[in-house]
Parts: sequence; C-alpha cells; structure tokens
Amino acid sequence: MKNLLTLLDLEPEQVEGLLALAQRLKSRLRAGEREPILSGRVLAMLFSKPSLRTRVSFEVGMQQLGGTALYLSPAEVGLGTRESPADVGRVLSRYCDVIMARVFAHADIEAIAAAATVPVINGLSDRFHPCQALADLLTVREAFGGLDGRRIVYVGDGNNVAHSLMVGGALCGAHVSIVHPPGYAPDLEIVQRAEGIAVRTDGHVEATEDLGAVDGADVIYTDVWTSMGQEDEAAERRRHFEPYRVDQALVSRAAKTAIVMHCLPAHRGDEITDEVMDGPRSRVFDQAENRLHAQKALLAWMVGGVELDS
Ligand code: CP
Ligand code: NVA
Repeated sequence: MKNLLTLLDLEPEQVEGLLALAQRLKSRLRAGEREPILSGRVLAMLFSKPSLRTRVSFEVGMQQLGGTALYLSPAEVGLGTRESPADVGRVLSRYCDVIMARVFAHADIEAIAAAATVPVINGLSDRFHPCQALADLLTVREAFGGLDGRRIVYVGDGNNVAHSLMVGGALCGAHVSIVHPPGYAPDLEIVQRAEGIAVRTDGHVEATEDLGAVDGADVIYTDVWTSMGQEDEAAERRRHFEPYRVDQALVSRAAKTAIVMHCLPAHRGDEITDEVMDGPRSRVFDQAENRLHAQKALLAWMVGGVELDS
C-alpha cells in the first residue's frame, strides 16, 4: 500500500483490517502499552490549511509508535507558489519516511504522491478526507459492534467529508444517505463509485434533498456548511443550509439508540446546536480521539509493515 489519497484506494477487507488494528492499538494504549513499531521513522506533515485534530493526532500518534513528526506550516512551504507539489514530494522523500499533506486541490496531493518515493497520506483535500472517515467508521463500529447494514445519515454539504464517509460506509456494508440542500449534492462520479462498492458489500448509498432519510437512522452526521477555502460563500451558504441544521427536533426522528457525529471543528448554532453537540447522543469527542487510533493503524500498516488480519 504506497499511498492513501482516498478510501477508493482500499478494499473492504483492508478497511476492516485497519479498523480491527486501530481497536487493538487503542486497547493497548489504554493498558499503558506502547509499541515502537515506527522507531526512528519520520513523518512530514505538510499543511496548506489550518488544523487541530489532524496535526495533533498524527504527531502524537508518531510519538506513541516511537517515531517523530515534522510540522510544515502553510507559510513556510508555499505549496504550488514557492515550489511545485511534485518537487515538494521529491524533496521530502529524501528526508522522511512518510508524508501526510493537507491541500486545497486534490490534484496537488496526487502530484505529490506521483513524485514521492515514500508513502503519501491525504490529510484532507477539497474532494476527500480519508483519515477522518477511518476514524468515523471506527466510532460507528465501537458504538454498534459493527457497520453492516447500519444506517448512516449525513446531513449537510456534499463535501470532502461526505465523500469519504460515503465511500468508507460503502466499503463496510453500511447504508449511507447524504442529505443536502439543493445545489450542494456530493460529486456524482464519487456517488457512482461508492454505489459500485456497495453492490459488492450489500451496502447502500444515496444522495437526497429529503430530510425524511433521517427517520430511524442509526447515525446522524454533520459538518460545517462552509469548508476551508469557501469563506466568500459563507453568507449565501447559510441561507441554503438553515433548514438542514442538526437540532434536537431532527435528532428525535432518528432511532432511539442513534448517535450524533461531527468531524469538527463545529460552528455551534449553525450546522449543529449546542444541545445536540453536548447531548447524550453525541459521540463527537470519541470520534475526534479515534483519529489518533485509526491513523496509528494506518501508519503501522503503511510504514511499519504490520500486517492486517483478513
Ligand atoms: N476533523 C479535522 O480534520 O480537524 P482539523 O481540521 O482540526 O484537523
Ligand atoms: N469540510 C471541512 C472539514 C474540516 C475538517 C473543510 O474542508 O473545511
């Protein structure tokens, strides 16, 4: 497995193997065990956008596995302005054992990966956020004991997070609905790719404008209405997304055992109310924690040579 640019790069068995490994690493950490799987290895973390979770979870994850991580800020590298993505990939490959990058255009991470000679991990692009989806799947798996047939309903923008959730859910045999306002549907090509996967896993994928999809859901998931880089559209987006706010009334339509998820950062009062985010159904901070465990599994597999159980 050289790169993880999108979960479309993975097979269903690999996702299940990664989630199982993440769960094992989480249990061992809780038991006070640390394993130097990545002793002496260095992760380059390249950011063209801000981050809290991605930066900290990757850096702490590398430390826990015995390696180190270098943070490269948007200002110092100037990806695509000071230096081309391909040259950045070439140079970092001469110093580091693995690269994680957060970029604007997905084509930039593809260019880094094409030129790099070490594994490249997508830490968010305008199209995908695969590390987030691995943590999301781990969170649903923990809450329900599995993902098969679970109804995951994402309410909001058909964005990078929605795309990865849809693909990841399909890989795990879940039933994923993306409920979006008119004009904010997920990319049709990605929906079709996810549908193709769902056929093989007995999963299901749909994109709809109908909030009725929330009825009886196992998971209600939301994300910001305005993603990084879209700040100019914020006012217009707010008008379109208001009816799609995740509030208590919407949550009460889901199953009694439903959980609420958000990749964070949240704009409280916009896409999710305080009452829901801080309420008994919320798993958002477990989900944030699971970034650490899911990415450690990914690094152990991609860089440390740890095998996945099939
Ligand atoms: N969810 C997520 O990727 O958070 P950050 O933007 O803070 O890394
Ligand atoms: N969709 C959001 C996710 C942030 C983690 C964004 O791209 O800004």
